[in-house]
Amino acid sequence: MPRTSAGRDVSEVGESGGLPPAIVARDVTRTYELDGVSVSALRGVSLTVAAGDYVAVVGTSGSGKSTLMHLLGGLDRPTSGTLLIGGRDVSTLSPPEMARLRNEVIGFVFQSFHLLPRTTARDNVALPLVYRGLGRRERRARAAELLHRVGLGHRIDHRPNQMSGGEQQRVAIARALVTNPSVLLADEPTGNLDTTTGEAILTLLESLNTEGVAVVLVTHDREVAARAHRRIEMRDGLIVPPTEPVPPTESVPPTESVPPTESILPASPVLSASSAVPASSAVPASSTPPASPADAAPVAGAALPAAPSAGAVGPGNDATPGVGGDG
Ligand SMILES: Nc1ncnc2c1ncn2[C@@H]1O[C@H](COP(=O)(O)OP(=O)(O)OP(=O)(O)O)[C@@H](O)[C@H]1O
Ligand SMILES: [Mg+2]
Repeated sequence: MPRTSAGRDVSEVGESGGLPPAIVARDVTRTYELDGVSVSALRGVSLTVAAGDYVAVVGTSGSGKSTLMHLLGGLDRPTSGTLLIGGRDVSTLSPPEMARLRNEVIGFVFQSFHLLPRTTARDNVALPLVYRGLGRRERRARAAELLHRVGLGHRIDHRPNQMSGGEQQRVAIARALVTNPSVLLADEPTGNLDTTTGEAILTLLESLNTEGVAVVLVTHDREVAARAHRRIEMRDGLIVPPTEPVPPTESVPPTESVPPTESILPASPVLSASSAVPASSAVPASSTPPASPADAAPVAGAALPAAPSAGAVGPGNDATPGVGGDG
């Protein structure tokens, strides 16, 4: 449950509803070294993602949004600064420990899906469960459940290369959710989708948020951003300080204003036409935020099939394009 106004830096926010913050970044930087050239993609960012938060990250291309998301998701490590995921300081974790933490806490949706093209939707979604030590039957059953949840009950045995962009995006979301993450990070989840499909995806993310999953999404779409509970704007590797509320009589610079949320479409045809489950009853087995240790079976490897940055991730990641390759 967000406790802050849109765009406000909440690095000091400690908890929400009695729960510790999901992710805390304190003055993190990330510098890429490429062919002897340094690129300061993040130059000191502080941000707290509270449990159950719903945050939109906006900003121009190259401003550092994906870099920040990769850090928040434990797919990469800061060059300096402090990053706590699920209360654990990532600088103290080995790559396998980091992979395990991701598997327990984070669901990550990449803009370009990063699905295994010749593997069925079900097996793509089931992949993160391999690291949970679940048997094949259970993995497949759970994957099917998630595919139903995202309205793809009729595409379970299809491969991504037989699916539309919106369907692939929903497979990617199902894969991110199959481990019952407490935080869902989505880098432009609607960027490639038509309006109707994008709306269905947003509705899905929002229903998850209502159930207590913290959602952080990157978007270039002001209407999408306006629907989040708060908005963070990146510019040149920094979070733009929030503007103070402006009295009604004063004019607001056009570039800073966010248009009001437009009418939300009625029940999405994409989801409602298929097997989408009502928000309150949908997430598998435990629909409570998965902080429960009982649900966190021992994990031998990474949850995410993607590992943008070499060296930052554990073994078993096999579907991994590079960082920043999504834009
Ligand atoms: N792996 C990398 N190696 C070197 N530089 C990188 C790498 N990834 C990103 N960068 C650089 O870091 C900066 C921030 O990139 P990032 O991908 O975070 O931007 P972004 O805000 O997500 O942009 P977009 O909206 O286009 O996706 C850019 O200048 C980019 O060129
Ligand atoms: Mg990006």
